[in-house]
Amino acid sequence: MDLHLNDKQVIVMGGSKGLGFACAEALVQEGARVALVSRNMENLLQAAQKLRTASKYDIPVFACDVQNPADISRLGEWVISTFKGIDGLLLNAGGPPAGGALTFSDASWQTALDTTFMSVVRLTRLFVPIMRRQKYGRIAVIESSSVKQSIDNLALSNAIRPAAAAYLKTLSSETAADNILINTILPGPTRTERLEALLQSWAEKAHTSVDEITKRREAQIPMGRFGEPQELAALAVFLLSGKNTYITGQLIAVDGGYSRTVF
Ligand SMILES: NC(=O)c1ccc[n+]([C@@H]2O[C@H](COP(=O)([O-])OP(=O)(O)OC[C@H]3O[C@@H](n4cnc5c(N)ncnc54)[C@H](OP(=O)(O)O)[C@@H]3O)[C@@H](O)[C@H]2O)c1
Repeated sequence: MDLHLNDKQVIVMGGSKGLGFACAEALVQEGARVALVSRNMENLLQAAQKLRTASKYDIPVFACDVQNPADISRLGEWVISTFKGIDGLLLNAGGPPAGGALTFSDASWQTALDTTFMSVVRLTRLFVPIMRRQKYGRIAVIESSSVKQSIDNLALSNAIRPAAAAYLKTLSSETAADNILINTILPGPTRTERLEALLQSWAEKAHTSVDEITKRREAQIPMGRFGEPQELAALAVFLLSGKNTYITGQLIAVDGGYSRTVF
């Protein structure tokens, strides 16, 4: 199937590692022009190097911490001066730290709000006007299965991600007439560096091995295994493509059946 991504310009936030990198790789395979954004320039350069062998185009990179509004403004200036337009945007960053509902200070809540909620507001405020002028745009946002079903000991994610999803639902109805389609992806546990680090810390806490913890966690998933980043990327690429012409405002889980909710 031709996804109509050839030559399309897509910005991949959090594109240096994990789910973002898998999406960037899949977009490159479909012929898209990809630019990567994350905080650490070294990570970005390594990721771009890996992608260059498969890409017909250069892979521009930009260092930006989405927690910081001044960084987001600089990103906007870079995008406007570097690209003719933006066809696709993958919004993604690191997740908030683990912890119970009463364990965080005001400062920790503010940091999580800036990184996980306000970044989505600020980045869409930046990119949607560009897409409006083109009368075309596709935005996919990586959130978490915690939007549908809260996860133990992830109070920040459980509280903040549903707000981001509700904001995106509202925005999607305001942009649909301009052919800007916005969808939210809800990953369940997926094999990235972040998950490997979490498994290690859960194993230490439970005084057991990573293999044992992996078995216990995978047993909670109807498909009996963690996801692979490429499995999420397959959906993201479709949602970001010109082949997606009528799906907007949706929350779509890629979780092997992990969320036990109907909607
Ligand atoms: N993997 C899972 O099982 C899973 C499940 C549910 C939800 N999620 C969510 O999906 C998202 C991606 O997860 P992942 O597993 O791919 O994580 P990851 O492997 O830690 O990758 C995160 C990416 O985002 C970048 N990043 C982190 N903080 C940033 C910031 N403040 N500003 C800009 N870029 C930032 C990182 O690069 P730099 O370090 O260079 O900034 C990296 O490229 C997270 O929000 C996570 O909570 C993941």
